Amino acid sequence: MTNRLDLAIRDVNIVDGTGAARFAGDIGIRGDRIVRLGRLASDDEAVRQIDACGLVATPGFIDAHTHDDRMLLSDPTMAPKVSQGVTTVIAGNCGISLACSPAHSASIPPLDLLDSDGQWFRFPDFRSYCAAFADAPAAANAACLIGHTTLRAATMDRLDRAATTAEIDAMRALAERSLEQGAIGISTGTAYAPAARAPTEELIAVCRPLSAVGGLYVTHMRNEDDAIVPAMDETFRIGDELGIAVVISHHKCVGKANHGRSSETLALIESRRARQPIGLDCYPYIASSTVMQRHRAGQSTRIIVTWSKPHPELSGMDLVEAARALGVSEVEAIDRLQPAGAIYFMMDEADVQRILAYPHTMIGSDGLPHDARPHPRLWGTFPRVLGHYARELGLFSLETAVHKMTGLTAARFGLEARGVLREGAFADITLFDPEVVIDAASFEDPVRPAPGIHTVIVNGEPVWRAGAATGARPGRVLKRQP
Ligand code: ZN
Ligand code: CU
Repeated sequence: MTNRLDLAIRDVNIVDGTGAARFAGDIGIRGDRIVRLGRLASDDEAVRQIDACGLVATPGFIDAHTHDDRMLLSDPTMAPKVSQGVTTVIAGNCGISLACSPAHSASIPPLDLLDSDGQWFRFPDFRSYCAAFADAPAAANAACLIGHTTLRAATMDRLDRAATTAEIDAMRALAERSLEQGAIGISTGTAYAPAARAPTEELIAVCRPLSAVGGLYVTHMRNEDDAIVPAMDETFRIGDELGIAVVISHHKCVGKANHGRSSETLALIESRRARQPIGLDCYPYIASSTVMQRHRAGQSTRIIVTWSKPHPELSGMDLVEAARALGVSEVEAIDRLQPAGAIYFMMDEADVQRILAYPHTMIGSDGLPHDARPHPRLWGTFPRVLGHYARELGLFSLETAVHKMTGLTAARFGLEARGVLREGAFADITLFDPEVVIDAASFEDPVRPAPGIHTVIVNGEPVWRAGAATGARPGRVLKRQP
């Protein structure tokens, strides 16, 4: 029987996202769905055809941890992401979301990572954010968390204290409404000043609406260095009391004294997984990046300035050089550069590899799309895992690497019919050359698309082809199916 297809991909090695071994076949797409997976008949007719000999087809990658809330609206071609093969991003992480953030958020680090000028803080609830997306869709899909720090900024006059009962009620009401409007969960960033004074009881009370809808609790934990284990225990307690799944964001062990401790933290996760659902994500680098913070100076072997409002000319410089240019000490330079962002070299390669290889670890970039000189993870995360960690180092198979960026992530975040290649699933597909794919973005030259990514398809439409955006913007806001 002849099938009428909108797009046929012929002669491709299919890595289906479940972790199963690859197999050769064809893929037939009609509308936004995969309708054939296996062998197409020779007389199947397709409007468009891709001969993909030698390439691998995988589910489009899902970036488990992003700060793309604003890029989805302000730079909807999403080049840093679709150029890597990413077709869906999880936005609203680390306690900060564009939706629900009040107008004055640009003066509250780390909310300023989303927009340091402030013109984009204009969505009082999740529905208004979704309406803006629907008016001008992005090339990629998005599923969104609401930030607890955002909720604090929206409801409290000062953030250096615990919330009152009335403020907790206001935050909870806002959270509940956003979940009803399609947000998939709540993120926290208690490591950062504007949420650091929130006690566990506040987090539990604000996140209470997650229980009824099976939403996710996703956390940049209070501590990722000496006190990481108590921070993990707090996370597990919150998940346990609310009866919901938790996700530990960008899992890492910070500072020389804690290098090697991922053996301990992963063992703790493994033992708690028997009692409650726990996920985690990781980016494939030994350096982190966020706003400029004084206390990082002692923990880092190198610091790079990613942006600075008063001194934009120093973006991209090592802090040592920036201090020399300003004629001050490094600590003094940290103050003079503010508001600013930085890259901090403070993890151990063995920990990064151990965490990446842990079977339940998803890949998330944590890229910061509005930094003048961003951490290379923004453009390089997924190709680096495929090319460097899977192909070059053999840390895991290509199939396992792909699972960590697709099927595992879709299951954890409840993204139905995404993250797997099968008949009936959405046609989010990435075609790449497994022998070539690698990250090109580096700390010295961070804004570079990766080689080896051939074609990226979102909801049946190619959005990236032969090294350039096609201009199509078929992305959607996705809901969670717990
Ligand atoms: Zn974070
Ligand atoms: Cu983050």
